[in-house]
Amino acid sequence: MRQPLVIGNWKMNGSLVFTEELLHTLEARIDDKISCEMGICAPFVYIKFATELTKRSVIKIGAQNVSEFSAGAYTGEVSASMLKELGTHWVLIGHSERRSLFNEANTALVQKVLAAQSAGLTPVYCVGETEDDYKSGKTFNVIADQVGALLGSADVDLNNLVLAYEPVWAIGTGLTASPEEAQKVHAFIRALVKEKNIESADGVRILYGGSVKPDNAGSLFGQNDIDGGLIGGASLDADAFVSICQQA
Ligand code: 13P
Repeated sequence: MRQPLVIGNWKMNGSLVFTEELLHTLEARIDDKISCEMGICAPFVYIKFATELTKRSVIKIGAQNVSEFSAGAYTGEVSASMLKELGTHWVLIGHSERRSLFNEANTALVQKVLAAQSAGLTPVYCVGETEDDYKSGKTFNVIADQVGALLGSADVDLNNLVLAYEPVWAIGTGLTASPEEAQKVHAFIRALVKEKNIESADGVRILYGGSVKPDNAGSLFGQNDIDGGLIGGASLDADAFVSICQQA
């Protein structure tokens, strides 16, 4: 049995006041209707504050990026061990905004996964096809390439890993893959992991992301291979995020 997982990705939003208010509100709303694991990936600068605020709660804090390097002359970068020191649990790696806006490519992303795992963080490796890929029927090729890069590394620990499928055309657009369409991609991702290790494939959680809202979360999470969600816009709103977590 895989415990469902819902992670909010705040992206570059918020402030100290926002962080405090939203985390307090979430904590106050967590009750026995929520049985999923919960995470919030905050901007780097709020992580320490967020981990302190959630010390006694089930919410685990994550980062949205990490350096592939462990230390040295890499101005502006943040290492995995620095994040670990702040109490960070998750780290998003290869989010489509990092891939497209900051030219992050598979090779460096795999190094980031390895850096995260060796510091004791749990990477959430994100994959997804663009609208052009989708329209030209290349979804499975793109996913095979992105997931294949990760699985091609013998050093990746498949038992300390979360995967996230986020079709780029569904992010922030209000469009979502239908539950059936998303399930097909999730099953494909799990089959790729299975080729490498059957037990890890059964255990690895694969999240769906891209315009997940309270009104579509239930049908997405009802699919066999969808183990929860990676939530952007709706994670900035306590009511919406709690409702999504209750449905996971
Ligand atoms: P939205 O939920 O705003 O579409 O964002 C999804 C996302 O990018 C989460 O990482």
